[in-house]
Amino acid sequence: MAGEAAAKVQVVGVIGAGQMGSGIAQLAAVAGIDVWLQDTDRAALDRAGDAISDSIRRLASKGQIPQSGISEALNRLRFTLELNDLRSADVVIEAIVESEDAKRKLFSELDKITKASCILASNTSSISITRLASQTQRPSQVIGMHFMNPPAIMKLVEIIRGTQTSDEVFATVKALAERFGKNIVCSRDFPGFIVNRILMPMINEAFYALYTGIATREDIDMGMKLGTNQPMGPLQLADFIGLDICLSAMKTLHGGLGGDRYSPCPLLIQYVDAGWLGKKRGRGVYSYTDQGNKPSPRM
Ligand SMILES: NC(=O)c1ccc[n+]([C@@H]2O[C@H](COP(=O)([O-])OP(=O)(O)OC[C@H]3O[C@@H](n4cnc5c(N)ncnc54)[C@H](O)[C@@H]3O)[C@@H](O)[C@H]2O)c1
Repeated sequence: MAGEAAAKVQVVGVIGAGQMGSGIAQLAAVAGIDVWLQDTDRAALDRAGDAISDSIRRLASKGQIPQSGISEALNRLRFTLELNDLRSADVVIEAIVESEDAKRKLFSELDKITKASCILASNTSSISITRLASQTQRPSQVIGMHFMNPPAIMKLVEIIRGTQTSDEVFATVKALAERFGKNIVCSRDFPGFIVNRILMPMINEAFYALYTGIATREDIDMGMKLGTNQPMGPLQLADFIGLDICLSAMKTLHGGLGGDRYSPCPLLIQYVDAGWLGKKRGRGVYSYTDQGNKPSPRM
């Protein structure tokens, strides 16, 4: 039944054409769904178009999708500055900045623009789905659909049910994520859900280790990478996620759960104040001097 509902999803709207939104739009297009990708920034849409095209071609060169799938997927994508273009969407997935005020305003607008049956999903890292749902007249159709970065590669989608999310909407979104080829975990709606409730304090602690001079950034990362068998260290991971996202998530954990242990590290705050937002801005804990994935050893 749920699989049938997901199969009936023909149009997906994605809002926010940054690192997450562009990856989510790509997943939907490759899965055979028509996609509207909306952003308020024309340059972000242009970058997303290039990134998706490169990524789909890379997947085809590795044999992960057929060559004929390249143009099929690209032809399913539409880029727009107009929110109104999402009115035909069966599911909207929001992936704008991690700001509760901005997301609340957007959900209120989406409620007016989208058709009555449309499901409104948020890719938020930590913000309450129940509070976003309260901005709409359809709280039973609002849900968290938390993709991991980069969405095209990572195998997990964390689904968060708000207090009023219906069983039917949960089942449809679960089946949609499976149609994207993802594994599912389900979390109740508490700050940070499962993954970021555990990951963000670890990243924050790595910042404290750097801030208090316990070790160099390289040794902190190498220690955690080789000592706990992770693909990269927490400081490099923070750069990949975006330090602004990490700071917002820590503020949400701190505000929602209380206690000193969730207090954002002053060094993390200072880097964000300096505009050192991570790889996407060319500078975070590390400096990124080219398009490569490796942090430069230079400050
Ligand atoms: N970066 C990660 O690793 C990661 C992982 C999982 C979830 N998330 C979540 O995904 C969301 C997006 O993160 P990101 O890393 O892609 O951010 P990003 O900064 O790369 O992109 C955000 C995009 O949203 C656009 N935007 C901002 N306000 C908008 C609005 N009102 N309407 C339309 N577009 C708007 C911006 O122009 C920008 O292009 C956040 O909620 C974040 O917490 C991020």
